[in-house]
Amino acid sequence: MNILLLGSGGREHALAWKLAQSPTCSKLFAAPGNPGIAEEAELVDLNASNHAAVVDFCEAHDIGLVVIGPEAPLVDGLADSLRDTDIPVFGPSMAAAQLEGSKGFTKDLCERAGIPTAGYVRTSSLDEATDALARFEPPYVLKADGLAAGKGVVIAETRTEAETALADMFGGQFGEAGAEVVIEEFMTGEEASFFALTDGTSIIPFGTAQDHKRVGDGDVGPNTGGMGAYSPAPVLTEELQARVMAEIIEPTVRTMREEGMPYSGVLYAGLMLTEAAPKLIEYNCRFGDPECQVLMTRLESDLAAIMLACANGALEGTTGEFSPQTAMTVVMAARGYPGTPEKGGAIVLGDAEATGAKVFHAGTAMRDGQLVASGGRVLNVTATGANATEAQKAAYTAVDAIDFPSGFCRRDIGWREVAREADN
Ligand code: AMP
Ligand code: GLY
Repeated sequence: MNILLLGSGGREHALAWKLAQSPTCSKLFAAPGNPGIAEEAELVDLNASNHAAVVDFCEAHDIGLVVIGPEAPLVDGLADSLRDTDIPVFGPSMAAAQLEGSKGFTKDLCERAGIPTAGYVRTSSLDEATDALARFEPPYVLKADGLAAGKGVVIAETRTEAETALADMFGGQFGEAGAEVVIEEFMTGEEASFFALTDGTSIIPFGTAQDHKRVGDGDVGPNTGGMGAYSPAPVLTEELQARVMAEIIEPTVRTMREEGMPYSGVLYAGLMLTEAAPKLIEYNCRFGDPECQVLMTRLESDLAAIMLACANGALEGTTGEFSPQTAMTVVMAARGYPGTPEKGGAIVLGDAEATGAKVFHAGTAMRDGQLVASGGRVLNVTATGANATEAQKAAYTAVDAIDFPSGFCRRDIGWREVAREADN
């Protein structure tokens, strides 16, 4: 089967790497891809927002499966355009992608389905939102309703800070995404991510991970898309995973189906492990980036076959088999990230992969035969080990083999788990 993969980041490089290994995949195309993806796929010049062009390409190249990496084309309805022409696609419809595309939609769904999550109000004007603050205690959690590239959440320590943040949101800081704002109760606990694949009816668990959202060591500084991740997340014990499936994932999939918006693809649940219960922070309708890199490193099953089963409503009886090893990925970012990253910095990968690690490209480009940085998050240096401590050592050994003078990384990815392992 020929496969078309859409996207250009480290998540898509990991998906391309795994799809290319798949016995079910005869030819892999990727658009727009990146220099790392180019080693696994033929890159094609296609704009995901031009649905007709994507459909034409699929028909001309006998594409048997389209894999949509990022959220924007899903929220934009690309999967619907493909399904309308009977092209199998891995990823939810526009209606189902509201689980990521509208935080208010997801909170209302949780309420209807009895899914544990933080208490909330949806607001659609500055006055309404400012009044609503009185119903919450600090810290105040304020979220732009729509897609804001992971930047639409503000945690305000004081009422004044919250009022300023609300004024910015309703003032257009996040454009249309901030036309509605959700105010939430603050939850405390450890965060972890749970992944499931579903075809709308059947559901299979698809791994756990923990991410590091803050830019600096010790989890300080501004939020980023993620500076590193590891999988599995042992904090999500078998017992907790069973609860997450029964109390969060299953009611979500059932309710979406019953309400005429069957969800198909990967459902990525961001969880807060509160003292009382695992609670949903948010859903994403795609794999996490960089969580996907560690999941794909551990995945032993045929990814293309599983994704096709998902696309065709034939997931029942399928399982995702993962190596028991820990995989860890360290993000090397360009100086300035998450603000304005420096572009064009030279990168020499050297012997990084000779250490046994895999270097996924996230924001790279080739310029005059030289690999250079072209985005905020540039490389995802990924290694495995018997546990988090070993995986961390292996990942940083590979990081240290890379020459990227205008780049930086956190030196403490995996610290929670490494500390727990030291205590045991
Ligand atoms: P989100 O984009 O919804 O995942 O939010 C980004 C980050 O904000 C999360 O990873 C949490 O660290 C934090 N966060 C979001 N919602 C809450 C909440 N209700 N209580 C505490 N922290 C939250
Ligand atoms: N790493 C967080 C995300 O992909 O949303």
